Amino acid sequence: MNGNPSKTRVKRTSRREFLSGSTAAVLGASVAGNLGIARTAHAAGSDLIKIALIGCGGRGTGAAIQALGNKATPNVKLVAMADAFRDRMEKCLKAVQSRCKDKNKIDVPPERMFADLLGFQKAIDCGVDVVLICTPPGFRPMQFEAAVKAGKHIFMEKPLAVDAPGTRRIMAANEEAKKKDLAVAVGHHLRHETKHCEVIKRLQDGAIGDIKYMRAYFNSSGVWTRPRQPDQTEMQYQVRNWYYFNWVCGDHIVEQHVHDLDVMNWIKGETHPVEANGMGGRQVRISKDHGEIFDHHAVEFTYADGTKMFSFCRHIPGCWNSFSEHAHGTKGHASIQGHGRSEIVVDGQEPMRWKRGPDGHQVEHDDLFAAMLAGKPYNEVDYSVNATMTAILGRMATYSGKVVSWDEAIKSTLDLSPKSYAWDAEAPVKPGPDGIYPCAMPGVTKAW
Ligand SMILES: NC(=O)c1ccc[n+]([C@@H]2O[C@H](COP(=O)([O-])OP(=O)(O)OC[C@H]3O[C@@H](n4cnc5c(N)ncnc54)[C@H](O)[C@@H]3O)[C@@H](O)[C@H]2O)c1
Repeated sequence: MNGNPSKTRVKRTSRREFLSGSTAAVLGASVAGNLGIARTAHAAGSDLIKIALIGCGGRGTGAAIQALGNKATPNVKLVAMADAFRDRMEKCLKAVQSRCKDKNKIDVPPERMFADLLGFQKAIDCGVDVVLICTPPGFRPMQFEAAVKAGKHIFMEKPLAVDAPGTRRIMAANEEAKKKDLAVAVGHHLRHETKHCEVIKRLQDGAIGDIKYMRAYFNSSGVWTRPRQPDQTEMQYQVRNWYYFNWVCGDHIVEQHVHDLDVMNWIKGETHPVEANGMGGRQVRISKDHGEIFDHHAVEFTYADGTKMFSFCRHIPGCWNSFSEHAHGTKGHASIQGHGRSEIVVDGQEPMRWKRGPDGHQVEHDDLFAAMLAGKPYNEVDYSVNATMTAILGRMATYSGKVVSWDEAIKSTLDLSPKSYAWDAEAPVKPGPDGIYPCAMPGVTKAW
């Protein structure tokens, strides 16, 4: 089940061609290598799909287990891993080994474990068919580009980037992915949840009349910190404690609230807002280990038809929490809970309710592998680009305190990435003498 799989590619390829990454007509040298792997597998009488995991943290561990447990085929094997830090990768491998029911699906010897900032390329080059990209979003554009260039099928986590230049890189690489018939899934698991699919289909069929406004929440107590260690370079510290640095994370409005903003755009028919204004700041999370991100944002987004969408995200303990999306129309309203049940209430009628079905995190892998095996086009990037850029637009509004248009945002040349990727390279942001990092100041900060 998929909320809206791309119909961009209509050309059918055979299952074997598809697993090989592309048809010969569009192959580059690296993809030709991939075809060889497919032939080898075929000659051996197997249809084994080899997987590399890049980014071996919490989500990477989950994604690997879900890919190995996909319902479409048992012929999968995790063969390579890459992470910035060796201890994270070793912990992840142990977790996958203990949680994956079929131990034969894991074959990752030390020579196929790559610990470095740029080790991902070596994992991609291990003769794999599928790459799982589960790193922080600041690395997504370069890692997606590398996987596409190598002709691999891809599952990658959301969000797709942390700034407009990164988003444009994703869009360009995705055009290549489509030309190569690569299957690309993105970790918007809500797109694969029954309650979301059922409710949004009815909203689009007019169940609550014309939608006048929408609300989205990702209010929680926040996430971990990974305090500075004495032997770390500044880059090592920032990549380890990545959540709090915009060049790696994008702020929690981008990293987490992107889920709800994607649902808002989905309800509106796969579009995006044209304008945003908002406010935010940091009130509670202000220590040395909290880097530069805000702990709350409130944004008023406007769509082209004038519909308003109110978005709230907060990382402060002890407050009202909600992970949910809501739409209000001329005939009623709908509420969709991230992890709970959902309902549509048409005025004067009994509510229609849906319980949570199978976990979308698993279903998204079932759907990806099923599409790959069937040789069906599969690409979830376009709507994810809209969602990522909507969230970045929201951050631009809260950081600047100004009204920001979509056109200004998407054309922004503000590039948050470092000049080079090495542990001794200069980090894009630096702490002051007191160890505190500067953060955005509405009214002053140039946010795009
Ligand atoms: N879809 C969902 O429900 C969901 C849930 C959680 C996280 N996520 C997403 O998954 C991604 C990872 O989040 P997480 O919670 O697993 O974080 P995490 O910190 O647990 O894991 C990230 C891992 O990536 C590694 N890493 C950092 N830079 C790297 C690089 N250049 N190359 C290779 N590895 C690198 C880190 O060392 C770490 O082990 C984020 O984009 C996040 O938004 C999605």
